Order: sequence, then C-alpha cells, then structure tokens
Amino acid sequence: MTADSQLKPQSLPQHVAIIMDGNGRWAQRQGKPRVWGHKKGVEAVRRSVSFCRELGISSLTLFAFSSENWRRPEEEVSTLMQLFLMVLQSEVKTLHKHNVRLKIVGDLSAFSDKLKANIAKAEQLTAANTAMTLNIAANYGGRWDMVNAARCLATQVQNGELTVADINEHTFAAQVQMSEQPELDLLIRTGGDVRISNFLLWQAAYAELWFTDTLWPDFDQQVFSEAIAAFVNRERRFGCTGEQIRQLATLGKG
Ligand code: IPE
Ligand code: IPE
Ligand code: MG
Repeated sequence: MTADSQLKPQSLPQHVAIIMDGNGRWAQRQGKPRVWGHKKGVEAVRRSVSFCRELGISSLTLFAFSSENWRRPEEEVSTLMQLFLMVLQSEVKTLHKHNVRLKIVGDLSAFSDKLKANIAKAEQLTAANTAMTLNIAANYGGRWDMVNAARCLATQVQNGELTVADINEHTFAAQVQMSEQPELDLLIRTGGDVRISNFLLWQAAYAELWFTDTLWPDFDQQVFSEAIAAFVNRERRFGCTGEQIRQLATLGKG
C-alpha cells in the first residue's frame, strides 16, 4: 500500500501539546519590546487551534505560563497576566461557537480573583462542547502536577477511601491533569531549545518529541503539519509529507 492509501485521520495524534517558546526573541529581532512577541503569539495560538480542529485532533495543550515564569521582570509578568485575561474574554465566544471546550490546567490559586472568575466563566460556558478540548497550561509545572496528584491520593487514604496498597500507576495517573483526555501523543517545542522546562513530565512518558527552531509567532500550518507528519512517520513508518497532512485538513473542512 502507498502512503496515500494508508494515511487516515486515525493515524494522526489525538493529543498534541506545545511549548510555545521564542516570543521574546522574535520581538527583539525586530527591535521591539519582548511583550510585542507575546501579543503576536496569540495569532499563532488561533492558527494552531483551528488547524487541530480541522484535522480532528481531540486535545491540544498549550504551555502559556510556567510555574517558573514568575521569576521574569514584574512588568513582563503583569503584561502576560493582562494579555491572558484579555484573550480569555475576547476568544471564548469564538471557541464556543466552534464547539471547543476550554480548560485551564495549573495551579490557579496564584491568580487574581478577577482572572479566576473569568477562567471559571469560560470553562463553564464551554464545558459541554465536544469537537475538541483546548487546554491552556497556566502557572503549570510538571512537578507541581505530580505533587498535587500525590496529595489527592494521600487525602483519599486519610479519608479511608483508598489504602496505600491501592496506589499504583493507574490510580496515580487518574489524579494528574487531563487524565480524562486521550494520552499525550506528540509534544512540540518551538524556539530552538531542546528541553521540557518542567512541562508535562508524567504525561510525556511515551509522547513523541519534536523540536523546531521556528519562533512561536512564526508557527503556522506549514510547520505544524511537518510536526504531525513526523509523528505519523515515526509511529507508523508511512513516509508521509507535511503536504499530505495539510490536504487532510482541507478534506476535513469539506
Ligand atoms: C515563550 O516565549 C512565552 C512565555 C514563556 C510566556 P519567551 O518569552 O520565553 O521567549 P524567548 O524564549 O525569551 O524568546
Ligand atoms: C517554557 O518557556 C514555558 C512556556 C513556554 C510557557 P521558557 O522560555 O520559560 O523556558 P526556559 O526558561 O527557557 O526553560
Ligand atoms: Mg523562552
């Protein structure tokens, strides 16, 4: 069989996560302040969501703010928070219209009451949507996620709902973020660095890792489809091209 006849939507990853890196450098290269890159990065987020939606990928998880990003200059952190709030308010209707469920994953306790209220509102509005789930990782850290899971299990043991002997990979996995969604298949990092930066440590155990020098604001369907083609080829040894992936997206629209 040729690659063409084998390449089916079910060959695609079901859950893709992206470390959206390189906004600051993108802006600096144009002689602009770093925050300009974060603003332009929002367009790459929109493109990525609609591409996943067209391909029928059921979960997309985007790393927007790490638990370590608080160490950045106060001004940058506050701009990022404002941008997060603005985007949440402006995009949620469009997501809802496209039947996308929005989830914010991370330690939300550090956010302002206003931001927390907006997050709750957006999640409630889109909770029953079924076309795909968009997870935004905010104040997220892979180590936090695992510590949080350990705490949940400890509480269950304390309450007599679970015994220590019941703690295993299965019960632990049920407590980490996004356990209700398909397993992570593909983890992409833009911006040229080859590290995980405390992203999905548990969930990435068997994910394919794909790195690109493309800076996040330049991330588009072309680059995204190369990443997906690399996944399909590594998993199924098809030898398919990014072009074929883009054709699948076009078919999905029809
Ligand atoms: C990633 O871009 C976005 C966030 C961490 C919020 P950076 O801001 O890390 O951009 P670079 O890596 O400095 O270019
Ligand atoms: C990772 O990027 C975090 C996000 C994309 C939100 P960073 O730029 O913060 O990662 P390091 O510091 O280079 O590892
Ligand atoms: Mg960076």
